[in-house]
Amino acid sequence: MHRHIFESMKFKRDSLLLLDQTKLPFEEVWLELSNTDMIIEAIQNLRVRGAPAIGICGAFALYLSIFNDNKLLSDDALLKKEANRIKNCRPTAVNLSWGVDKVVDFVGKCINLNEIFDFIYSLYLQEIEINEKIAINGAKVLPKGNVLTHCNTGSLAAPGVGTALGVIRKMFQMRKLNLVYVSETRPLLQGARLTVFELERDAIPYTLIVDSASGMLMRNFMVDAVIVGADRIAANGDTANKIGTFMHALAANYYNVPFYVAAPMSTIDFSIATGEEIPIEERDGAEVVRCMNSLTNKENTITLNYAFDITPAKFIKAIITESGVYSPNEILTLLD
Ligand code: MRU
Repeated sequence: MHRHIFESMKFKRDSLLLLDQTKLPFEEVWLELSNTDMIIEAIQNLRVRGAPAIGICGAFALYLSIFNDNKLLSDDALLKKEANRIKNCRPTAVNLSWGVDKVVDFVGKCINLNEIFDFIYSLYLQEIEINEKIAINGAKVLPKGNVLTHCNTGSLAAPGVGTALGVIRKMFQMRKLNLVYVSETRPLLQGARLTVFELERDAIPYTLIVDSASGMLMRNFMVDAVIVGADRIAANGDTANKIGTFMHALAANYYNVPFYVAAPMSTIDFSIATGEEIPIEERDGAEVVRCMNSLTNKENTITLNYAFDITPAKFIKAIITESGVYSPNEILTLLD
């Protein structure tokens, strides 16, 4: 199935093989992570990132905890403590907790480690199918023309074609796509480094812009739609995504450009009423005074480094999921 899809993680019985995204696009370095601490380090330092991808890696991290200490299979308190340690390593994307909790629930029903491994692999394959459906659903509703996207939401961020980038891929196949404007995504440049890497591989036409250029492009009628991914969607449709997303949404609202969010249903957190309650990760200010590895100011410069922002539901035209395309105010009705 989908053999052409670029894979950034591979599962072995005793380790996770991971493409180190901090090295892209200059080097393709594969890491072999053989314990939970190594996976936590990789998630915290964005060697693997993107909500669905860290969900699967979090699930695999708990599998490795059990693999390396069989007591976790029979001691529920120990298992939950280890699960929390993994869940807390990045707070905003709900998919991380989702993936870890799936394994916690499964452990209660299984008899051996091989079953847990197979279960996680089946989650991974399911995500590939889910992203394919998101791509199809999204490509039907987005208008033909130029699309602007932020951060990286492709095969590096989610198994399979990705979420927002999966929609863009499908639009390209359907000849609905003219050009993708990729905003670079300061400070860690997921757009410039990773989205451009993926678009070049697929020969999809793109143009890289600085984050603050999107309003100017929209003013000049150069953008027909904006599509982004999500790290957590509240029950009212407010959406947390990579810092800078909200500024694109504001500009899109001002210039009447439709703004779409593409995400699996597992990114919706029905336990959270509005975006106010979504925990926003604050990262080390060292990232703000660097561009790649070069300092842009003195190390002791005062900084503030929110990694995500909240786009209010009223700025979102539709949320594209595997089960359908919904206006943000329909989200609550999906709770079953
Ligand atoms: O800090 P990152 O790179 O993990 O942030 C990623 C994003 O904000 C993505 O847009 C989101 O996780 C969706 S990925 C399909």
